[in-house]
Amino acid sequence: MTVSLTTAQIREKYLQFFEGKGHLRLPSYSTVAPDPTTLFTVAGMQPFKDQFMGAPAVFDGVANRRVTTAQKCLRIGDIENVGRTLRHCSLLEMLGNFSFGDYFKQESLTWAWEFLTSPEWLGLDRARLYVTIYEEDEEAFRIWTEVNGLPADHILRFGADENFWPADAPKEGPNGPCGPCSEIFYDRGPKYGNDTWAEYAETRESARFLEIWNNVFPQFDRQDPLPDGTPVLKDLPFKNIDTGMGLERIATVVQDVYDFYSNDVFAPIVAKVAEMSGQAYDGPQSVSHRVVAEHIRSVSMVIADGSVPSNTGRGYVVRKILRRACRHAYLLGLREPSLFKLVPIVAERMGDAYPELRENLAKIGATVQSEEERFLKTLEGGIQRLGGLLSGMERGAVLSGQDAFVLYDTYGFPVDLTKEIAEEYGITVDEAGYAESLENAQEIARAGSKYGKSELFGGNQEALEGLPRTEFVGYDELSVDADVVALVGAGERLSHLPAGSEATVVLSRTPFYAEGGGEVGDTGRLEWEGGAGVVRDTRKTPQGVFLHDVLVEEGELREGVRVRGVVSGERRATERHHTATHLLHAALRAVLGDGVAQKGSLVAPDRLRFDFSHGAALTAPEIAAVELLVSRWVSANFPVTWQEMPIADAKAAGATALFGEKYGETVRVVRVGGSVEYAGQSVSSMELCGGAHVRRTGDIGAFVILGDENVAAGVRRIEALAGDAATAWVRERLNAAAKVASLLNTGVDGLEARVSGLQAQLKAAEKDIAAVKRQLAEAQMGGGSGGAAQTRELGGFRVAALKLAGLEGNELRGAADRLLDQSGADMVVVAGEKGLVVKVTKDAVTRGAHAGQLIGKLAAAGGGKGGGRPDMAQAGVTDADAALGALDTAF
Ligand code: SER
Repeated sequence: MTVSLTTAQIREKYLQFFEGKGHLRLPSYSTVAPDPTTLFTVAGMQPFKDQFMGAPAVFDGVANRRVTTAQKCLRIGDIENVGRTLRHCSLLEMLGNFSFGDYFKQESLTWAWEFLTSPEWLGLDRARLYVTIYEEDEEAFRIWTEVNGLPADHILRFGADENFWPADAPKEGPNGPCGPCSEIFYDRGPKYGNDTWAEYAETRESARFLEIWNNVFPQFDRQDPLPDGTPVLKDLPFKNIDTGMGLERIATVVQDVYDFYSNDVFAPIVAKVAEMSGQAYDGPQSVSHRVVAEHIRSVSMVIADGSVPSNTGRGYVVRKILRRACRHAYLLGLREPSLFKLVPIVAERMGDAYPELRENLAKIGATVQSEEERFLKTLEGGIQRLGGLLSGMERGAVLSGQDAFVLYDTYGFPVDLTKEIAEEYGITVDEAGYAESLENAQEIARAGSKYGKSELFGGNQEALEGLPRTEFVGYDELSVDADVVALVGAGERLSHLPAGSEATVVLSRTPFYAEGGGEVGDTGRLEWEGGAGVVRDTRKTPQGVFLHDVLVEEGELREGVRVRGVVSGERRATERHHTATHLLHAALRAVLGDGVAQKGSLVAPDRLRFDFSHGAALTAPEIAAVELLVSRWVSANFPVTWQEMPIADAKAAGATALFGEKYGETVRVVRVGGSVEYAGQSVSSMELCGGAHVRRTGDIGAFVILGDENVAAGVRRIEALAGDAATAWVRERLNAAAKVASLLNTGVDGLEARVSGLQAQLKAAEKDIAAVKRQLAEAQMGGGSGGAAQTRELGGFRVAALKLAGLEGNELRGAADRLLDQSGADMVVVAGEKGLVVKVTKDAVTRGAHAGQLIGKLAAAGGGKGGGRPDMAQAGVTDADAALGALDTAF
């Protein structure tokens, strides 16, 4: 039987449960994403990416490698489904527990099971739980079946599209932490559908089997794949845990209500929508009730976090969600602003957990109301435009799907309303065409997403149609005058950009290099009469239209004005790294052989990265030889030249082309005008390349290889620096070495001998200490008999307890093992100054003893936290005597 709990009670229980397992409880982070991969925070783990990658796990001065949160997340990729289905939400509260290199799969899955099934926590029926695991994850299979006792036919295996997080990350990205996952489902029973779990393997869609909790095992750092598509997954410094349970969903399950719109948070909002509109929730309009109720919650939360409706970036999404809610309010017959009246209910239901809702109540209400007023005006514009279209058509004609879509996309005009009005003119709407246009727009939006497939950033392909190729003059010039040909923001052409806004700018000609061939896009400035802006990045379309991402700082940028584009000085640093990359390539082929082929590269102002085929790690002498060859080219100060020529001529001249790369008829060849000697051969560099380069090799300056690593089978990666970046790096390392040497009272040359000597001393000292600690423990334990321990009968078990001075951690665990042997007790409890260890014999475990549960109670009495397995558990405490003192009452 499930216990009925409110949403707030479930949230609190979850956080308490994980606090009991030694986690630090943190408040939700903002909905504004902590990193640029998404606009909004989309997962509970997102604020902790750095910790997954190895940064110290210290939060407001408290160090803890276990953290638990209820995080507000916004997921907008599926927004069209919100309200239509009973499962999609745009705002979700993710209950999460995280481990940064601390516990891993075993604890994650057994704790999840304990929280869901133990009567003390949620008490869900075990027979109704099902899971999916990653196809190769035998460890997860073993834990689910052998430790948690889940029948094997409750488990399905899927590939990286389902059981990897982010979904398909190895192939699709984003870069950063990722790993296989195991999802937990709850069977809501036949009243929701008569499908079976086995069928879920095919359908992957079910109203009956509801996914409630995702346990992710982030152990990889995903990098850009090689150009042939081979995924690159580096090991993270340690293995992590990231779990996310959707609070809306688990509340639906625990409260056994039909959908989350009937749970204790949503029901009052839905009821108010019904009251204001006079339309009952069970009527044909129920989609609209749901959309309004769900969206007002998200919008209130993001406005509380400081986002406001606008035409770009995050503001565009806020506007989009709010307008979708407005449309549905209109469909319910609400012709005056009314959504703002729902905001106090949201604040009332959720304000305890998210006080920002109450603090910003007036601002949220006013923002929603003024957007509603604007929307109602826009809608009038749409009605006029539609009236114009329809009055020019014959009765019985069909309004095109594209027209209906433009009305929707530009005027926020619901297609249902379009149909209704068109009917009055005897005209029907091409609904299939409309659906197709909508689908296309969504595809574009998803393609623009960098975070999984689910996030939306207004795509702008259509708005770029018909624009001419941009003339690129940046190989020779870094500053030119040009005309603004187009301004595009959030998928639409704009006539002007006010100060403070950001959009894509297309120029008649440009000195800015667009990201390509491994080289990053240029940054810089645009200046015009009365204004200026920053160029943050430059990309180009396959049709050769250059797109400059511009933030207007002063004045207003208008289509048609004359601007001066000035490329940032960083470009020179990028050029150094690009020419250095060609020389590195040629040097690697000379030193390692012709088997070296370029697999990918990154050329940036601050570094270069070069991936190439080679079967083994580079030896120190090989790295030194490659570095020396490049330095010889640099000091020879050869000219670097480039020239366009037919591809056949380039190949005949021996230019290096990238395998698998598509080249046009005419190619650009970059040549270093001179060769260097290596092992009796003369080595030169000539490559097909569209990138920016130095004029002479001497411009490169210093060159240093940072290291070589493995990124995929048979593929190595070198990172290197050129110019000032190289000089600074070398200086920093020399300073660090000098500092360490002086701490050790020697010079850099004497470091190696000094450190080896210290290591040997340390090893000997550790051995001595271990022997002394062992003697210390033995003496305190009664010299091998275990006689010093107090042994008592508690709860039907013989329990030996002992306080040991001067021992911690491993030593305490070792002592507990020996005491269990020596004393003949069923369980031993051993305390140090700040630590506690409980060990239980196998036999006592089968009779129901549980070290983890016992230590939880003892640790609580001793002012600490702890947990563990039935046979072994440990805890940190502030008062070990109080912990031991609680033993008598713990059974
Ligand atoms: N990051 C995972 C998810 O969002 C689990 O927290 O599903």
